[in-house]
Amino acid sequence: MDKIVIKGGQALHGEVQVSGAKNAALPILASALLADGTSTYRNVPDLADVGTMLKVLRTMGCDAERDTETQDLCRVGVNGHITPEAPYDLVKTMRASVVVLGPLVARFGRARVSMPGGCAIGARPIDQHLKGLKALGAEIHLTEGYVEATARQLKGGTVNFDVITVTGTENVMMAAVLAKGRTVMENCAREPEVEELAKVLNKMGARIEGAGTSVITIEGVDGLKPVEHAILPDRIEAGTLLVAAAISGGNVLVKRVVPEHLDAVVEKLRETGCTITAEAGGLRCQAPQRLEAVNITTTEYPGFPTDMQAQLMALMSVSQGTSVISENIFENRFMHVPELDRLGADISIQGHTAVVKGVKGLSGAPVMATDLRASASLILAGLRAEGRTDVSRVYHLDRGYERLERKLRGLGADIRREKA
Ligand code: EPZ
Repeated sequence: MDKIVIKGGQALHGEVQVSGAKNAALPILASALLADGTSTYRNVPDLADVGTMLKVLRTMGCDAERDTETQDLCRVGVNGHITPEAPYDLVKTMRASVVVLGPLVARFGRARVSMPGGCAIGARPIDQHLKGLKALGAEIHLTEGYVEATARQLKGGTVNFDVITVTGTENVMMAAVLAKGRTVMENCAREPEVEELAKVLNKMGARIEGAGTSVITIEGVDGLKPVEHAILPDRIEAGTLLVAAAISGGNVLVKRVVPEHLDAVVEKLRETGCTITAEAGGLRCQAPQRLEAVNITTTEYPGFPTDMQAQLMALMSVSQGTSVISENIFENRFMHVPELDRLGADISIQGHTAVVKGVKGLSGAPVMATDLRASASLILAGLRAEGRTDVSRVYHLDRGYERLERKLRGLGADIRREKA
């Protein structure tokens, strides 16, 4: 297992480009199942999770490959016989594979997808995904750890989610586009990645309105066509890079972002004293002399994103004052706390809340990544810590960041990857 070695204390300067959004690429790759032929996607980040999704699609019989020449281009061909199944060994490595469920039932009338099981940050049930598919007429059976869903022909219906769920909204939306009649989905997730998926589906011939709001209306159509599409930039990677500038006391231009997708994050960073300005199709972050402690409450989009909680906690660990961070989306997303404390942070957990008492400085130590965003948080803390920080188990990082250490090195960080 690789590790990332950081010598802290370098203020980051320069400019860096954001890759395509992981959480848009995953459902969009799955949506290729809805059409016969080959769909082409650009700006697809080179991530472990994207590799897993391509493997899931190949396992079913798709030609799903990353182009060998053009690094960020992927093609998914749905031509021959498709076996509408996603096996446990793949789904357990990436629970987002569950987004193949909706397209498979809608297109092939049946799906056999392993229950994803929990993950480090929480139980992460899919009851809302199944509720939505049932509302469209699918028969659902749970056997031997698999979801078996069948439907000769899905019919439009009304789906009111009890919980706001990003992939739940995406799964049901992809099922509804080929259902007979109208579907109205209420209490939907409003994330930009949901809106991006709807944009792709509409380019394929679907008739979706309201994506990005909490009510989505879909008129079913008989069939969809393959698509060419460039994935939007990753707002969480962009936010992570802005925090890298802030925590290192630097000044960095993060290029290729959609500023409005980062409103809640930018607002918080400004509250800490950062100067954030729009520039050349990106956002520039100038760190302040004095980092003010701010309180953070994670909520669904457009609120402060749970995927940025660990990164802001690293920043708050060296702020002036005390920051109260409430994590309201996942029940176990504080695993970075004991690791940050190893670096000299002063953080205590009370249920869903972490109290972060800012300290003067951090000191480098060996720490262990426990999940994707926790690994980013530890790297950010390592940029600030005196001396050497070794972050182990960086396979977590590679799930969601495209060569982050190279991007940070390009900004002046003393950081390298060591093969285990
Ligand atoms: C998506 O996960 C993202 N992943 C996550 O990003 C992100 O943290 C999360 O949304 C919240 O924004 C992808 O898009 C691939 P949810 P998802 O369903 O869809 C509960 C990252 O770091 N829930 O919106 O799985 C659930 O337990 C990853 O990039 C149910 O109770 O999250 C959670 O508490 C991590 N029943 C809450 O809803 C359901 O049927 C939100 O989960 C579904 C969800």
